[in-house]
Amino acid sequence: MSIHKTLGEFIIEKQADFPHAKGELSALLSAIKLAAKIVNREINKAGLVDITGATGVENVQGEQQQKLDMYANEIFKNALIARGEICGIASEEEDNYVFFDNKNSRSGNYVVLMDPLDGSSNIDVNVSVGTIFSIYRRVSPTNGPVGIEDFLQVGRKQVAAGYVIYGSSTMLVYTTGNGVHGFTYDPSIGVFCLSHESLTIPKSGRIYSINEGNYVKFPLGVKKYLKYCQEEDESTNRPYTSRYIGSLIADFHRNLLKGGIYIYPQTAQAPSGKLRLLYECNPIAFLAEQAGALATDGFSPILDIKPTELHQRVPFFTGSPEMMDTAHQFMKEFE
Ligand code: AHG
Ligand code: MN
Ligand code: MN
Ligand code: MN
Repeated sequence: MSIHKTLGEFIIEKQADFPHAKGELSALLSAIKLAAKIVNREINKAGLVDITGATGVENVQGEQQQKLDMYANEIFKNALIARGEICGIASEEEDNYVFFDNKNSRSGNYVVLMDPLDGSSNIDVNVSVGTIFSIYRRVSPTNGPVGIEDFLQVGRKQVAAGYVIYGSSTMLVYTTGNGVHGFTYDPSIGVFCLSHESLTIPKSGRIYSINEGNYVKFPLGVKKYLKYCQEEDESTNRPYTSRYIGSLIADFHRNLLKGGIYIYPQTAQAPSGKLRLLYECNPIAFLAEQAGALATDGFSPILDIKPTELHQRVPFFTGSPEMMDTAHQFMKEFE
């Protein structure tokens, strides 16, 4: 049996690539790693302990908050508070950003934005869920409180981003702008081990992922592209295969490994789509670009959008570059 490098060892080895102070990245990711292990442990017990189901509270997104949404939010928040590097967070499950107002944290240089539990409607039925995180250097003066400007930075300013997928195995995938690296959790020793170094997405693929139940509401460009995906054509390997889990992170992870395209478009009723720019689309877009994929709103890169509010939504297209080029052509032609 081969022994893999651990996440901790890998980070130390790659520290030189991180453009900011040495040691900080390792501390940041340690907090995330620890929280991921705790959430993983609880998710594995879902069904046995009273942790599934709704809290009865509607979150700021207008969604029924699940018990595990709250649980994951608290675990990640507390793990991050315990580290001096992070001075505040914003989360899908918090109405407003949170300043870590203690002596240890207020001098921290980083803020974290997160979707503590992605795909939470899938928990009760034992389908993969995830955690998504996005890290920026603060722009407000150190030692003072954090401000909204620390959280509304353009996605290109991310210094690190990643996700944890709690699937048939649990994985942590991250980037600091030097490629995308994946680590599989070995629960018997409690360690994330390097399993996917320098992940790159295939240039093209055969999978398209979209909630087709919303078909009648889609923009014409998306409808035409879906028709294209379903048509027969040997040279381009069509018809493609439709795969949609309903956990963005699981859909993205599969397409990253196999090649494919994921679309959550705007509709007349929801002109900005459903997915959140800061907690979902920006971190995935950073990973996507680092893996040779594209991530856009159907027209322009997600990472160039200047956010205007914390819980902002955005139409989201991401996947293999050749498939994305074709989707863009349809969006442009049938705008
Ligand atoms: P979350 O569970 O964090 O609220 O995110 C849900 C998102 C995403 O995970 C998923 O891809 C999408 O919602 C599914 O939405 P539909 O059910 O509308 O397809
Ligand atoms: Mn939610
Ligand atoms: Mn989500
Ligand atoms: Mn969520």
